[in-house]
Amino acid sequence: MNSFEIRKKFLKFFANQDHQIIPSASLIPENDPTVLFTTAGMHPLVPFLMGEKHPAGRRLASIQPCIRTGDIDQVGDNVHHTFFEMLGNWSLGDYFKKEAIEFSFDFLTNKKWLNLDRNKMAVSVFAGDNDAPQDKETKKIWLSLGFPEERIKELTKKNNWWGPAGQTGPCGPDTEMFYWTGTEKAPKEFNPENSKWMEIWNNVFMEYFKNNQGKYKTLTQKNVDTGMGLERTLAVLNNLSDNYQTDVFLPIIKKIEELSGKKYDDYKKEFRIIADHLKAATFIIGDKYEIKPSNSGQGYVIRRLLRSSIRYGKKLGLPDKFLIKLIPKIVEIYGETYSYIKERENYIINIIDHEEEKFEKTLEKGLKEFEKGKNAFILYTTYGFPIELTMEIAKEKGVFIDLEKFNNELKKHQELSRTASVGMFKGGLADSGEKAVCYHTATHLLLAALRQVLGSHVYQRGSNINVERLRFDFSHSNKMTEQQIKEVEEIVNQKIKDNIPIICQEMSLEEAKNKNIMGVFENKYGQRVKIYAIGNFSQEICGGPHAKKTSALGNFKIIKEESSSAGTRRIKAKLL
Ligand code: ALA
Repeated sequence: MNSFEIRKKFLKFFANQDHQIIPSASLIPENDPTVLFTTAGMHPLVPFLMGEKHPAGRRLASIQPCIRTGDIDQVGDNVHHTFFEMLGNWSLGDYFKKEAIEFSFDFLTNKKWLNLDRNKMAVSVFAGDNDAPQDKETKKIWLSLGFPEERIKELTKKNNWWGPAGQTGPCGPDTEMFYWTGTEKAPKEFNPENSKWMEIWNNVFMEYFKNNQGKYKTLTQKNVDTGMGLERTLAVLNNLSDNYQTDVFLPIIKKIEELSGKKYDDYKKEFRIIADHLKAATFIIGDKYEIKPSNSGQGYVIRRLLRSSIRYGKKLGLPDKFLIKLIPKIVEIYGETYSYIKERENYIINIIDHEEEKFEKTLEKGLKEFEKGKNAFILYTTYGFPIELTMEIAKEKGVFIDLEKFNNELKKHQELSRTASVGMFKGGLADSGEKAVCYHTATHLLLAALRQVLGSHVYQRGSNINVERLRFDFSHSNKMTEQQIKEVEEIVNQKIKDNIPIICQEMSLEEAKNKNIMGVFENKYGQRVKIYAIGNFSQEICGGPHAKKTSALGNFKIIKEESSSAGTRRIKAKLL
């Protein structure tokens, strides 16, 4: 069975059970600034799991491309990817445990569907703790389906609880389905520690909500959220010990063999990392937000994925610019299922080509400096060498890098450059300096006003300030009407008139995320961040500086509204 057949079968099975098939969502979460990427099929459904009515009904199914950067260091083994597809079905307050489990079991084992051997299956269920009781019902259901006691394991929250997808949100106990992948006979007893038992499907019973104090409250609506890993299930169905030999990877692997003259079997780790990372980068770049490689947020993830692929490519002796030769293979695999990947093929190639060129230069210089014993911080600031890359190279060479020291130096460096630019404004450029600060505050007001007028899908995509004007890119697809532009101007000018003080507060990144405060997140745990608040109207994570009161800004005028790239608009505005 290939990837096309399994996607089709999955959707057909759930359509037969009265599920509506919903299109896959963007890889960039549209309503959750607390994470960079869509990490599961349920992620775009959070408001509906919380009780909002979904226009398609209470039974849904989809195929969702996902990115999990948390797994990036495990990529290289048989089964972990940064990009993968999740097959999922949902009940929004409709069916619950019994039907969900029966659906899964039927789809996996029925001859008409996947026809997997039920004697090679095992399951885990939630053992219970202080937050939620033992899931006896689920165990009973599996027993009633003929599962022997030895093939059902009760595990703790670490294993058998899923969610929330962001910092807060719906979550619950789950039951996971495993399949025996060893060549020898499946052992009588299920041992979850044995990696030959491969997890293929997860059914989550989302009846809890984790709040920002870390407490679990029961939800009034009892939901089901499931996720089956497409790549793993494909491998299992085809008796392959390795996801990279399935049809969603093999054409890329073959092409790397052709370009390098080396065999996959001899260099598995390198082949896998290149194939996985390039796929993830292709999908992020090809997404409707058209994120480009950069030094922050999602753009930084693209940069890191591409740079790591290039480095592993070098180990295989692949020629310069090999990445773009692999893109047509990714399009071959996914173009039919995700048409935008095909439509944007040339665009994706251009972006990656450019990044590859840029990195070649950096790499050459940086590696030389590394050999000379330059420290990680100098490599970063002077040679643009990403810290993760320095860590990787250091690990290989058995060199120790003090990450804490690096972070401290980075913080000092950032503060210094901030003071330096403020100082520059002060030294003779006082007026223009203050003007730039006012534009910065106006940018915060503008974002909040845009969200009020256009909707909460609006996020910052780029910002640039000089003493003449502000330029602001944001996620929104359509041209703004004159009326909308006028409304935004009026809101901003009203806030200026209200003479609101701008308050700066410091907190931990986690706290800011819990409060759903906007900003570019980089997953640096423990980091302290500054929050600038303009009354209740705007709150953003930001380094500052800002005006003290909004009245300093003067009159706000939008002078241009235009397209920046697909799905992104650009505003230029002045303070008069
Ligand atoms: N949301 C669940 C998972 O990702 C199904 O495993």
